[in-house]
Amino acid sequence: MAETSKCPFVVVANRLPVDRVSGDDSAQWRTSPGGLVTALEPVLRQHNGVWIGWPGSALDDYAQFEVDGLNLLPIELTGDEIEAYYEGMSNSTLWPLYHDVVAKPAFHREWWEAYVQVNQRFADAAAQCAARDAVVWVHDYQLQLVPAMLRALRPDVRIGFFLHIPFPPTELFKQLPWRNQILEGLLGADLVGFQRPGGAANFARLVRLRLGHKNHRERIYLDDGRQLTAQAYPISIDFTSLEKLARTPQVQQRSEEIRSELGDSRTIFLGVDRLDYTKGIRQRLRAFGELIVDELISLDDAVFVQVASPSRERVQQYIEVRHDIERWVGRINGDLGRIGRQPIHYLHSSYPREEMAALFRAADVMVVTPFADGMNLVAKEFVTCRYENNGALVLSEFAGAADELRQAFLVNPHDINGLRDSMLAAMLADPRDLARRMRAMRRQVRENDIDSWATKFLTDLAGERMRSG
Ligand code: G6P
Repeated sequence: MAETSKCPFVVVANRLPVDRVSGDDSAQWRTSPGGLVTALEPVLRQHNGVWIGWPGSALDDYAQFEVDGLNLLPIELTGDEIEAYYEGMSNSTLWPLYHDVVAKPAFHREWWEAYVQVNQRFADAAAQCAARDAVVWVHDYQLQLVPAMLRALRPDVRIGFFLHIPFPPTELFKQLPWRNQILEGLLGADLVGFQRPGGAANFARLVRLRLGHKNHRERIYLDDGRQLTAQAYPISIDFTSLEKLARTPQVQQRSEEIRSELGDSRTIFLGVDRLDYTKGIRQRLRAFGELIVDELISLDDAVFVQVASPSRERVQQYIEVRHDIERWVGRINGDLGRIGRQPIHYLHSSYPREEMAALFRAADVMVVTPFADGMNLVAKEFVTCRYENNGALVLSEFAGAADELRQAFLVNPHDINGLRDSMLAAMLADPRDLARRMRAMRRQVRENDIDSWATKFLTDLAGERMRSG
């Protein structure tokens, strides 16, 4: 590896915050997909550290570089590793297993071997670029072995780990052939953070049952005398900067354009997701279609805009969910649309922040219906953009965000009738009721923004080391 400068603050995540746009000769970068990057980018900026991750496609040079003021250290993955570690173990084993087996997880020994190998590469890179006593913050399900690997190499550094997705109940986790290795990997951290208290409790229980380490609430006692903490830190977004963007005249103008293109007087329902089978996209589109069929809403009164950003496109279950959703969109539009009036506008694309803010401003009813979701930052982004305290949020009980956004129209996405009722209720709600709900939700996100999340985690991490001596 090329010589890198030693850094007191290191973020380690599978992906870099920017993706190399492929097919382009000159280096072009765009923001990587997903909530992890949305949340962590401002944290790295504030702490002025280095971010270690995979650049999404092959580079000519793997030396540390800078994009837009961020220091980035790219990790190389071979084609085989992308298949076995990223598409295989990470996204066909761990992702479905940790999301309540919404899809069936596959277990393959070669995938596990690649997972170990790639985790070791990330740990080696972190060990090389961390300064003495540095803070190294490891993220998410792709890198659960890194904490222990890094501790073996660099016992001086303080290691935090944060899991952005749900941590499953013991009955599901137990299916994993490498369950003990994953637990041992995570125990290498000084502090293990989860989105919800239930995830932290599942982890402590598994560590007790499977490895025999005692715990008292969130405190875990290892045999060698070391102690660590496992607890919930619900993640958030940069409220101030997103709200500022949403207030700009450009975003306001673009949101008016969107409204007039869709038909000014229509209620705009909006869904924004990575195209993923955990997100419940089909269910919400079906509920919307049924409301039209049953004449509870008319095509002239409402439209559904679904942004589905491309994700993990070579993984079979993602290929299937895309076909499924597109069949439903085609069927609903074909059956219910007429010239110049489509019930669903389906956009298989990702958009820059400005366009997303304009969409969040243009919408009347935001529909977020995952079957399982660590947090769901889209729900928080929507609320942040609604500075006039209007608009409604329909939110799945199974998203971590439901713990905080209690004033949303909470739904069980498996219950299509309940979903229909809530979408209709959100559309017809009294504006005073909506304003009351929105005010409370906005206060929650404003007071618990990404800065307070990172500060709390990092302060606790600093305290851990002092407690452990
Ligand atoms: C979720 C995960 C992240 C991941 C992101 C995008 O937010 O928690 O770890 O980076 O999805 O998925 P991708 O596979 O494209 O990195």
